[in-house]
Amino acid sequence: MIPTPPDWAALRADFPILDQHVHGQPLIYFDNAATSQKPRVVIEALRHYYERDNANVHRGIHELSNRSTTAFEAARARAAQFINARSADEIIFTRGTTEGVNLVASSWGLKHLQRGDTILLTEMEHHSNIVPWQLLAERTGAKVAYLPVSGDEGLLDLSRVDEFLTRGVKILSLVHISNSLGTVNPVANLCARARKLGVVTLVDAAQSAGHCPVDVQQIGCDFLAFSGHKICGPTGIGVLYGRAELLEAMPPYQGGGEMILSVEYSGTRFKPAPHRFEAGTPDISGPIGLHVAMDYLDGVGREAIFRHDQELAQYAYEQLAANVPNVRLFGPRHGRAGLVSFLLKDVHAHDVVTLADQAGVALRGGHHCTQPLMHKLGVESTARASFYFYNTKAEVDRFVEVIREVRKFFAV
Ligand code: ALA
Repeated sequence: MIPTPPDWAALRADFPILDQHVHGQPLIYFDNAATSQKPRVVIEALRHYYERDNANVHRGIHELSNRSTTAFEAARARAAQFINARSADEIIFTRGTTEGVNLVASSWGLKHLQRGDTILLTEMEHHSNIVPWQLLAERTGAKVAYLPVSGDEGLLDLSRVDEFLTRGVKILSLVHISNSLGTVNPVANLCARARKLGVVTLVDAAQSAGHCPVDVQQIGCDFLAFSGHKICGPTGIGVLYGRAELLEAMPPYQGGGEMILSVEYSGTRFKPAPHRFEAGTPDISGPIGLHVAMDYLDGVGREAIFRHDQELAQYAYEQLAANVPNVRLFGPRHGRAGLVSFLLKDVHAHDVVTLADQAGVALRGGHHCTQPLMHKLGVESTARASFYFYNTKAEVDRFVEVIREVRKFFAV
């Protein structure tokens, strides 16, 4: 039976921020890869928490602290369900994807890597999945290698995996959906190949967790990180999934309150995972808002969201290609996720974004924290439109019209 498609227009009305004018024009928010907007239920959950339940977690034996703790741990269980982890103990709350990668690099990496080992990334990684590994390489003497991206379509060169994924590799850390290209990487396949060689795997799910179904058991990764703010949740909260067996053997990331069993002047005994990795008072409202965001997204359905975003991205790609002279489009022509990166010949991406903003269209321009990839593509920056389920085809039509106007303004 074909499922009934969600009522996208009704869902859009859940996002109060979208109903406004910017520079006198109706807002078209196409910067969802940077951060998504928040539905009213998430905003209300935060308000309710601060108005009724605010207290520190795991500390006080009083009603408000119990409520906070229960809600905080319920969010952990919900996050486990959201990505099909086997247990809530495999979920560590972080500040976001970046902190998740840093935690693995510091804790797992410092324990397991030594001189001569290889950290394998891909050429399309975000800086947050490059810099922590470069820092680790400097500290351990390990080296960083990059699985190449091939051709104009911005796909991983899968014909070269055997050349790069060798026994010297200790960890493969790769992005699920590229924030610059829209490429959807075959993460399950690559994790399976890594596992056969005993290589540990980390998946950066920042652009995928809220946009398509993500199942850590089906992907078969050891670690997976994502951010709350890109999936309709609050800023400052993220999730790191780690397979229990690995987390249990990892040393703490930071030291402080909450993560200890007992402390003596002579030394400390640590709690088991995940609490061992959550030193200090955590972000409490963040997980509570994130819980509601995850419920909301699964109420819509992430398969439907993925199809919707893909359709918009495909449509935007085709319309730009057909209607805008001298446009260069990046990333795969087909099967892309919900974003389009482009450049107008002889126009700086920032100029495109500034003029689009004057027309009410919010884009992002720059290197998108993927500078090495930009250099590989022979550019410094791109303009990017990134979509979510509350965006419409009519907005894409208006966006293409605006880009045509920009093109005319900078006539070549
Ligand atoms: N990584 C985010 C982006 O691509 C911030 O915009």
